[in-house]
Amino acid sequence: MFVSGGAGFIGSHLVDRLIAEGHEVVVVDDLSTGVQAHVNPKATFHKMNVWSDYKKLYKLLQREKPDVAVHLAAHKDVRASVDEPIHDAHMNIIGTLNVLEGMRRAGGGRVVFSSSIAVYSQDADLPITETSEVEPSSPYGISKFAGEMYMWHYSESTTMACISLRLTNVYGPRQSMEGAGVITIFINQLLKGEVPTIFGNGEKTRDFIYVDDVVDAMMRSMRVAWCGELVIGTNVETSMNKLLQELQGILGTHVTPQYEESREGELYYVYADSAKAREVMGWAPKTLLSEGLHKTVEWFREHPL
Ligand SMILES: NC(=O)c1ccc[n+]([C@@H]2O[C@H](COP(=O)([O-])OP(=O)(O)OC[C@H]3O[C@@H](n4cnc5c(N)ncnc54)[C@H](O)[C@@H]3O)[C@@H](O)[C@H]2O)c1
Repeated sequence: MFVSGGAGFIGSHLVDRLIAEGHEVVVVDDLSTGVQAHVNPKATFHKMNVWSDYKKLYKLLQREKPDVAVHLAAHKDVRASVDEPIHDAHMNIIGTLNVLEGMRRAGGGRVVFSSSIAVYSQDADLPITETSEVEPSSPYGISKFAGEMYMWHYSESTTMACISLRLTNVYGPRQSMEGAGVITIFINQLLKGEVPTIFGNGEKTRDFIYVDDVVDAMMRSMRVAWCGELVIGTNVETSMNKLLQELQGILGTHVTPQYEESREGELYYVYADSAKAREVMGWAPKTLLSEGLHKTVEWFREHPL
């Protein structure tokens, strides 16, 4: 098994699960946001940039010939993608293409790609499903959609099997602050006694999914005989105000947030229905938000950022 971005938040959990199930795992990561200490010591680690170190990447894949590549390496900061779209395209579009091309040259296999609901239109009807209108509103969303199109191209033109998972907002232990999810930011601000900032009036919603459920979707994607895109979400929408209230309940704090102007390139209301993922690969989320938040808070209490 090959995991790009395996030192990152989702990737390191996936690597732990693969190792626990007895797989040999090769991890590639440039450590731009990832943490080497989070990579399971039973995995083989290579510090490598999937965009600029493509020759090394091809050689590695040709040597290892993995059955499956899970491609998670990406810059996932939506705001940074608006400020630096060319950098985003190098890392996210060319990086994805390099992994696909490397797998093709190594003899094929299956590729699982971590896409995002950022591919959808800001006006998409809710809940989001695979058939909702695609019209990315940020360079990050564009880069994910481009990655999906390349996944299609390789599925159609080679023997490779490619599945893209359009993830909603993933949270859990080990998420870093760089381009981090709001849950990680709020928890760490509250733990430090800081005032959390809410962009907009706090009624913007997100579909928060616990990392173990995403890892479970990735494990199933590696086995299912199917190609295409699947939405991975919980079908539950939670506003920023409600989220902060839940977290303050767990942490026992009573802080009034600071409200600031909304940010460009972000969807306003979001929740996503994964009926198709259930049909295709028997996947459904298992972790309730309150349960996932408790686990995440416990982890950050012991590992404050
Ligand atoms: N976390 C979420 O809410 C979410 C939602 C939708 C999609 N995704 C996607 O899931 C994937 C993993 O996200 P994450 O939350 O674990 O982020 P993360 O930043 O923790 O992990 C990404 C990893 O990729 C590495 N990386 C980045 N660019 C690289 C490059 N060019 N070459 C090699 N390594 C590189 C980073 O060092 C990091 O370890 C990303 O593709 C992201 O776009 C995440």
